[in-house]
Amino acid sequence: MTSAGLAARLKSGLRLPVMAGPMFIASTANLVIAQCNAGIIGAMPALNPRSTEALDKDLARIAASVGTQPWCVNLVAHKSNERLAPDLDVVLKHKVPIVVLALAADPGLVRELQANGSLVFQDVIRNRHAQKCAEMGVDGIIAVAAGAGGHTGDQSPFALVGEIREWWDGLLLLAGCIANGRGILAAEALGADLAYIGSPFLASSEANTQPGFKAMLVEGSAKDVLVTSCFTGVKASFLKPSLVENGLDPDNLVPATSGGAININNGGANSKAWRDIWSAGQGIGAIKSAGPAAEWLDWLAGDYAAARRSMGLAQ
Ligand SMILES: Cc1cc2nc3c(=O)[nH]c(=O)nc-3n(C[C@H](O)[C@H](O)[C@H](O)COP(=O)(O)O)c2cc1C
Repeated sequence: MTSAGLAARLKSGLRLPVMAGPMFIASTANLVIAQCNAGIIGAMPALNPRSTEALDKDLARIAASVGTQPWCVNLVAHKSNERLAPDLDVVLKHKVPIVVLALAADPGLVRELQANGSLVFQDVIRNRHAQKCAEMGVDGIIAVAAGAGGHTGDQSPFALVGEIREWWDGLLLLAGCIANGRGILAAEALGADLAYIGSPFLASSEANTQPGFKAMLVEGSAKDVLVTSCFTGVKASFLKPSLVENGLDPDNLVPATSGGAININNGGANSKAWRDIWSAGQGIGAIKSAGPAAEWLDWLAGDYAAARRSMGLAQ
Protein backbone atom coordinates (compact mmCIF):
# COMPACT_ATOMS: atom_id res chain seq x y z
CA MET A 1 0.00 0.00 0.00
CA THR A 2 1.24 3.52 -0.81
CA SER A 3 1.99 5.95 2.01
CA ALA A 4 -0.96 8.13 1.03
CA GLY A 5 -3.06 4.97 0.97
CA LEU A 6 -2.03 4.10 4.52
CA ALA A 7 -2.95 7.55 5.85
CA ALA A 8 -6.29 7.42 4.03
CA ARG A 9 -7.00 3.89 5.29
CA LEU A 10 -6.23 4.78 8.90
CA LYS A 11 -8.19 8.02 8.78
CA SER A 12 -11.22 6.48 7.13
CA GLY A 13 -11.96 4.41 10.25
CA LEU A 14 -11.52 7.32 12.64
CA ARG A 15 -13.94 9.95 13.89
CA LEU A 16 -11.05 12.38 14.33
CA PRO A 17 -7.55 12.37 12.76
CA VAL A 18 -6.08 11.62 16.17
CA MET A 19 -3.92 8.96 17.78
CA ALA A 20 -3.42 8.85 21.55
CA GLY A 21 0.13 8.96 22.87
CA PRO A 22 1.00 6.05 25.18
CA MET A 23 1.79 7.29 28.69
CA PHE A 24 3.88 5.51 31.32
CA ILE A 25 1.81 4.52 34.39
CA ALA A 26 -1.20 6.58 33.18
CA SER A 27 -2.49 4.72 30.10
CA THR A 28 -4.60 1.71 31.06
CA ALA A 29 -6.35 -0.92 28.96
CA ASN A 30 -9.64 0.78 29.90
CA LEU A 31 -8.30 4.07 28.54
CA VAL A 32 -7.28 2.40 25.26
CA ILE A 33 -10.76 0.85 24.94
CA ALA A 34 -12.45 4.20 25.68
CA GLN A 35 -10.24 6.01 23.16
CA CYS A 36 -10.88 3.43 20.43
CA ASN A 37 -14.63 3.27 21.06
CA ALA A 38 -14.77 7.07 20.86
CA GLY A 39 -13.19 6.94 17.40
CA ILE A 40 -9.47 7.59 17.76
CA ILE A 41 -6.45 5.27 17.89
CA GLY A 42 -5.91 4.23 21.53
CA ALA A 43 -2.45 3.53 22.92
CA MET A 44 -0.67 2.22 26.01
CA PRO A 45 2.92 1.26 26.94
CA ALA A 46 3.61 -2.49 27.23
CA LEU A 47 5.25 -1.83 30.60
CA ASN A 48 2.11 -0.45 32.27
CA PRO A 49 0.62 -3.83 33.22
CA ARG A 50 2.88 -5.02 36.01
CA SER A 51 3.88 -8.29 34.35
CA THR A 52 3.97 -9.88 30.92
CA GLU A 53 1.06 -12.13 31.99
CA ALA A 54 -0.99 -9.04 32.91
CA LEU A 55 -0.06 -7.49 29.54
CA ASP A 56 -1.30 -10.64 27.80
CA LYS A 57 -4.68 -10.36 29.57
CA ASP A 58 -4.98 -6.63 28.85
CA LEU A 59 -4.24 -7.06 25.15
CA ALA A 60 -6.78 -9.87 24.86
CA ARG A 61 -9.41 -7.62 26.50
CA ILE A 62 -8.60 -4.69 24.23
CA ALA A 63 -8.73 -6.86 21.10
CA ALA A 64 -12.13 -8.22 22.17
CA SER A 65 -13.53 -4.76 22.96
CA VAL A 66 -12.62 -2.49 20.05
CA GLY A 67 -13.72 -4.40 16.96
CA THR A 68 -11.78 -3.34 13.89
CA GLN A 69 -10.61 -0.04 15.38
CA PRO A 70 -6.79 0.25 15.27
CA TRP A 71 -4.97 0.43 18.60
CA CYS A 72 -1.38 0.62 19.70
CA VAL A 73 1.18 -0.69 22.15
CA ASN A 74 4.45 1.10 22.91
CA LEU A 75 7.50 -1.12 23.27
CA VAL A 76 10.70 0.22 24.78
CA ALA A 77 13.31 -1.36 22.50
CA HIS A 78 16.24 -0.66 24.79
CA LYS A 79 18.68 -3.22 26.17
CA SER A 80 17.85 -2.26 29.75
CA ASN A 81 14.22 -3.32 29.26
CA GLU A 82 14.32 -6.85 30.65
CA ARG A 83 10.71 -7.43 29.60
CA LEU A 84 11.35 -6.66 25.93
CA ALA A 85 11.61 -10.29 24.72
CA PRO A 86 8.58 -11.71 26.61
CA ASP A 87 6.47 -8.59 25.97
CA LEU A 88 7.36 -8.78 22.28
CA ASP A 89 6.08 -12.37 22.17
CA VAL A 90 2.76 -11.21 23.62
CA VAL A 91 2.54 -8.29 21.17
CA LEU A 92 3.20 -10.71 18.30
CA LYS A 93 0.64 -13.20 19.65
CA HIS A 94 -2.10 -10.55 19.68
CA LYS A 95 -1.06 -9.08 16.33
CA VAL A 96 -1.25 -5.58 17.82
CA PRO A 97 -2.28 -3.34 14.90
CA ILE A 98 0.23 -0.55 15.64
CA VAL A 99 3.48 -0.71 17.63
CA VAL A 100 5.28 2.48 18.63
CA LEU A 101 8.92 1.76 19.25
CA ALA A 102 10.89 3.90 21.66
CA LEU A 103 14.66 4.07 22.06
CA ALA A 104 17.22 2.33 19.87
CA ALA A 105 14.93 0.18 17.76
CA ASP A 106 16.65 -2.15 15.30
CA PRO A 107 15.63 -2.92 11.71
CA GLY A 108 15.24 -6.63 12.52
CA LEU A 109 12.61 -5.82 15.14
CA VAL A 110 10.79 -3.51 12.72
CA ARG A 111 10.71 -6.27 10.07
CA GLU A 112 9.61 -8.95 12.55
CA LEU A 113 6.65 -6.84 13.69
CA GLN A 114 5.69 -5.90 10.13
CA ALA A 115 5.89 -9.52 8.93
CA ASN A 116 3.44 -10.35 11.73
CA GLY A 117 0.97 -7.72 10.49
CA SER A 118 1.73 -4.72 12.72
CA LEU A 119 2.36 -1.19 11.52
CA VAL A 120 5.50 0.18 13.18
CA PHE A 121 5.80 3.84 14.18
CA GLN A 122 8.74 5.55 15.87
CA ASP A 123 8.82 8.92 17.60
CA VAL A 124 11.59 11.43 16.86
CA ILE A 125 12.62 14.90 17.95
CA ARG A 126 15.06 15.63 15.10
CA ASN A 127 14.96 15.41 11.30
CA ARG A 128 18.16 13.32 11.33
CA HIS A 129 16.55 10.76 13.64
CA ALA A 130 13.51 10.67 11.37
CA GLN A 131 15.81 9.84 8.43
CA LYS A 132 17.32 6.94 10.40
CA CYS A 133 13.83 5.65 11.18
CA ALA A 134 12.89 5.85 7.50
CA GLU A 135 16.03 3.84 6.66
CA MET A 136 14.87 1.22 9.18
CA GLY A 137 11.63 0.93 7.22
CA VAL A 138 9.10 2.21 9.74
CA ASP A 139 5.53 2.81 8.54
CA GLY A 140 4.99 6.04 10.42
CA ILE A 141 7.06 8.81 11.98
CA ILE A 142 5.87 10.70 15.05
CA ALA A 143 7.42 14.17 15.20
CA VAL A 144 7.55 15.23 18.85
CA ALA A 145 7.85 19.00 18.92
CA ALA A 146 8.49 21.48 21.73
CA GLY A 147 6.00 21.60 24.57
CA ALA A 148 5.07 17.90 24.54
CA GLY A 149 4.44 15.91 27.70
CA GLY A 150 6.84 13.18 28.80
CA HIS A 151 10.18 13.18 26.98
CA THR A 152 9.67 16.26 24.87
CA GLY A 153 11.19 17.67 21.72
CA ASP A 154 12.61 21.18 21.71
CA GLN A 155 12.03 22.26 18.14
CA SER A 156 9.10 24.26 16.82
CA PRO A 157 6.58 22.07 14.99
CA PHE A 158 6.95 24.44 12.02
CA ALA A 159 10.66 23.60 11.77
CA LEU A 160 10.44 19.89 12.63
CA VAL A 161 7.49 18.97 10.40
CA GLY A 162 8.77 21.31 7.69
CA GLU A 163 12.14 19.55 7.54
CA ILE A 164 10.68 16.05 7.67
CA ARG A 165 8.00 16.75 5.06
CA GLU A 166 10.68 17.91 2.59
CA TRP A 167 11.66 14.28 2.00
CA TRP A 168 9.13 11.99 3.83
CA ASP A 169 5.82 11.40 2.10
CA GLY A 170 4.88 8.56 4.42
CA LEU A 171 2.55 8.64 7.40
CA LEU A 172 3.46 11.53 9.69
CA LEU A 173 2.07 12.30 13.12
CA LEU A 174 2.70 15.46 15.11
CA ALA A 175 2.88 15.65 18.92
CA GLY A 176 3.26 18.52 21.31
CA CYS A 177 0.52 20.57 23.01
CA ILE A 178 -2.28 19.53 20.65
CA ALA A 179 -5.34 19.77 22.87
CA ASN A 180 -8.18 21.34 20.89
CA GLY A 181 -9.80 21.37 17.46
CA ARG A 182 -7.70 24.18 16.08
CA GLY A 183 -4.57 22.32 17.19
CA ILE A 184 -5.57 19.23 15.19
CA LEU A 185 -6.35 21.37 12.17
CA ALA A 186 -3.04 23.20 12.52
CA ALA A 187 -1.18 19.87 12.60
CA GLU A 188 -2.92 18.90 9.36
CA ALA A 189 -2.15 22.29 7.80
CA LEU A 190 1.54 21.79 8.62
CA GLY A 191 1.52 18.47 6.78
CA ALA A 192 0.84 15.88 9.48
CA ASP A 193 -1.69 13.14 8.79
CA LEU A 194 -2.66 12.62 12.41
CA ALA A 195 -2.39 14.59 15.63
CA TYR A 196 -0.74 12.61 18.47
CA ILE A 197 -2.25 13.61 21.80
CA GLY A 198 -1.08 12.63 25.28
CA SER A 199 -1.49 15.03 28.21
CA PRO A 200 -5.25 15.71 27.98
CA PHE A 201 -5.90 12.00 28.61
CA LEU A 202 -4.11 12.23 31.97
CA ALA A 203 -7.32 13.86 33.22
CA SER A 204 -9.48 10.98 31.98
CA SER A 205 -11.35 8.87 34.54
CA GLU A 206 -9.83 5.78 32.89
CA ALA A 207 -6.25 7.04 33.36
CA ASN A 208 -4.19 5.72 36.25
CA THR A 209 -3.47 9.18 37.65
CA GLN A 210 -4.05 10.40 41.20
CA PRO A 211 -6.95 12.82 41.88
CA GLY A 212 -4.36 15.48 42.82
CA PHE A 213 -2.68 15.04 39.43
CA LYS A 214 -6.01 15.42 37.63
CA ALA A 215 -6.81 18.56 39.65
CA MET A 216 -3.38 20.04 38.86
CA LEU A 217 -4.03 19.52 35.14
CA VAL A 218 -7.41 21.22 35.32
CA GLU A 219 -5.99 24.17 37.26
CA GLY A 220 -2.73 24.41 35.32
CA SER A 221 -1.58 26.06 32.11
CA ALA A 222 1.61 26.34 30.06
CA LYS A 223 3.28 28.53 32.69
CA ASP A 224 3.21 25.58 35.12
CA VAL A 225 5.28 23.28 32.90
CA LEU A 226 9.03 23.00 33.36
CA VAL A 227 11.34 21.20 30.91
CA THR A 228 14.31 19.61 32.64
CA SER A 229 16.72 16.73 32.13
CA CYS A 230 17.37 16.57 35.89
CA PHE A 231 15.20 13.53 36.55
CA THR A 232 15.73 11.21 33.61
CA GLY A 233 18.86 12.60 31.92
CA VAL A 234 16.71 13.48 28.90
CA LYS A 235 14.57 16.59 28.47
CA ALA A 236 11.12 15.97 29.90
CA SER A 237 8.18 18.18 30.88
CA PHE A 238 7.03 18.28 34.51
CA LEU A 239 4.38 20.17 36.44
CA LYS A 240 6.07 22.72 38.68
CA PRO A 241 3.43 22.45 41.44
CA SER A 242 4.21 18.72 41.75
CA LEU A 243 7.90 19.54 42.21
CA VAL A 244 7.01 21.96 44.98
CA GLU A 245 4.74 19.37 46.62
CA ASN A 246 7.74 16.99 46.69
CA GLY A 247 9.88 19.60 48.45
CA LEU A 248 11.85 20.60 45.33
CA ASP A 249 12.59 24.09 44.07
CA PRO A 250 11.85 24.24 40.31
CA ASP A 251 14.46 27.01 39.95
CA ASN A 252 17.23 25.03 41.67
CA LEU A 253 17.11 21.45 40.52
CA VAL A 254 20.11 19.16 40.84
CA PRO A 255 20.98 17.24 37.65
CA ALA A 256 20.49 13.46 37.61
CA THR A 257 23.52 11.70 39.11
CA SER A 258 23.12 8.71 36.78
CA GLY A 259 24.92 10.59 34.03
CA GLY A 260 21.74 10.55 32.02
CA ALA A 261 21.70 6.79 31.53
CA ILE A 262 18.29 5.50 30.55
CA ASN A 263 17.28 2.50 32.59
CA ILE A 264 13.90 0.95 32.04
CA ASN A 265 13.96 -1.92 34.55
CA ASN A 266 11.17 -2.08 37.11
CA GLY A 267 9.23 0.46 35.14
CA GLY A 268 12.20 2.79 34.98
CA ALA A 269 14.88 3.53 37.55
CA ASN A 270 13.45 7.01 37.59
CA SER A 271 9.88 5.96 38.03
CA LYS A 272 9.57 8.35 40.99
CA ALA A 273 9.90 11.05 38.37
CA TRP A 274 6.67 9.79 36.79
CA ARG A 275 4.79 8.53 39.86
CA ASP A 276 5.29 11.40 42.31
CA ILE A 277 6.59 14.19 40.11
CA TRP A 278 3.99 14.56 37.44
CA SER A 279 4.70 15.02 33.76
CA ALA A 280 2.47 16.91 31.34
CA GLY A 281 2.93 19.11 28.29
CA GLN A 282 2.28 22.80 27.71
CA GLY A 283 -1.15 22.17 26.18
CA ILE A 284 -2.83 21.56 29.56
CA GLY A 285 -4.51 24.98 29.53
CA ALA A 286 -7.15 23.35 27.31
CA ILE A 287 -8.07 20.81 30.04
CA LYS A 288 -11.12 22.31 31.76
CA SER A 289 -12.36 19.27 33.69
CA ALA A 290 -11.57 15.66 34.52
CA GLY A 291 -13.96 12.97 33.34
CA PRO A 292 -14.46 10.03 31.00
CA ALA A 293 -12.22 10.06 27.90
CA ALA A 294 -15.34 9.72 25.71
CA GLU A 295 -16.73 12.99 27.07
CA TRP A 296 -13.53 14.86 26.27
CA LEU A 297 -13.41 13.31 22.81
CA ASP A 298 -17.04 14.37 22.19
CA TRP A 299 -15.99 17.92 23.05
CA LEU A 300 -12.89 17.60 20.85
CA ALA A 301 -14.95 16.39 17.89
CA GLY A 302 -17.25 19.41 18.23
CA ASP A 303 -14.31 21.77 18.62
CA TYR A 304 -12.62 20.29 15.54
CA ALA A 305 -15.81 20.70 13.51
CA ALA A 306 -16.05 24.33 14.69
CA ALA A 307 -12.41 24.93 13.73
CA ARG A 308 -13.06 23.55 10.25
CA ARG A 309 -16.17 25.72 9.89
CA SER A 310 -14.25 28.81 10.95
CA MET A 311 -11.72 28.13 8.18
CA GLY A 312 -14.45 27.50 5.59
CA LEU A 313 -13.51 23.81 5.28
CA ALA A 314 -15.86 20.93 4.48
CA GLN A 315 -17.33 19.09 7.47
C1 LIG B 1 2.94 11.33 31.86
C2 LIG B 1 3.45 10.98 30.50
C3 LIG B 1 4.05 9.75 30.28
C4 LIG B 1 4.50 9.40 29.00
N1 LIG B 1 5.04 8.14 28.80
C5 LIG B 1 5.38 7.76 27.55
C6 LIG B 1 5.82 6.43 27.29
O1 LIG B 1 5.91 5.59 28.19
N2 LIG B 1 6.16 6.09 26.03
C7 LIG B 1 6.07 6.99 24.99
O2 LIG B 1 6.37 6.64 23.84
N3 LIG B 1 5.65 8.25 25.19
C8 LIG B 1 5.30 8.65 26.44
N4 LIG B 1 4.83 9.92 26.65
C9 LIG B 1 4.69 10.84 25.51
C10 LIG B 1 3.31 10.74 24.86
O3 LIG B 1 3.11 9.47 24.28
C11 LIG B 1 3.13 11.83 23.78
O4 LIG B 1 4.22 11.80 22.89
C12 LIG B 1 3.05 13.21 24.38
O5 LIG B 1 2.25 13.19 25.52
C13 LIG B 1 2.49 14.19 23.36
O6 LIG B 1 2.51 15.50 23.84
P1 LIG B 1 1.29 16.18 24.64
O7 LIG B 1 1.35 15.59 26.01
O8 LIG B 1 1.65 17.62 24.64
O9 LIG B 1 0.03 15.85 23.94
C14 LIG B 1 4.38 10.31 27.92
C15 LIG B 1 3.77 11.55 28.16
C16 LIG B 1 3.31 11.88 29.42
C17 LIG B 1 2.65 13.21 29.63
